[in-house]
Amino acid sequence: MAEVKVIGIGNDHAAVEMKNQIKAFLEEKGYQVINYGTDTDESCDYPIYGEKVGRAVASGEVDAGVLICGTGIGISIAANKVKGVRAAVCSEPVTARLTKEHNNANIIAFGARIVGIETAKAIVTAWLDAEYIGSGRHEKRVNMLKEIEESR
Ligand code: RB5
Repeated sequence: MAEVKVIGIGNDHAAVEMKNQIKAFLEEKGYQVINYGTDTDESCDYPIYGEKVGRAVASGEVDAGVLICGTGIGISIAANKVKGVRAAVCSEPVTARLTKEHNNANIIAFGARIVGIETAKAIVTAWLDAEYIGSGRHEKRVNMLKEIEESR
């Protein structure tokens, strides 16, 4: 992934407050953040927001994405349906770092009902600060993921 400057953020009703906190946190760090999520607590459908951020990342409209729903799972599954997306759900910073280093994850996801705000900040920071090990076995495996996409 090239240098990340613009981040797309998306969420459902379960994660409005955490979305706002993470958006402000990223802006304080100097990133431009585009909000694709809902801004109300009214029940809504997470696939809408996973797809929006997935398409924004895949098209290059944004450099990377952050997705938050109750668990992080549904919204990441939706994003992963978009060709070119590698969205990873993480509940702590070690896997967040590794999913950039090994999988070149271009979207990080987590659950507002699963992790607290400080852990969420640590997850996002670990993922953004890590670099993809773009050679050898990791490159081969990420290319294999792309081949699966091409074959469906
Ligand atoms: C919404 O209640 C909840 O299902 C959603 O936020 C998410 O956790 C789905 O994976």
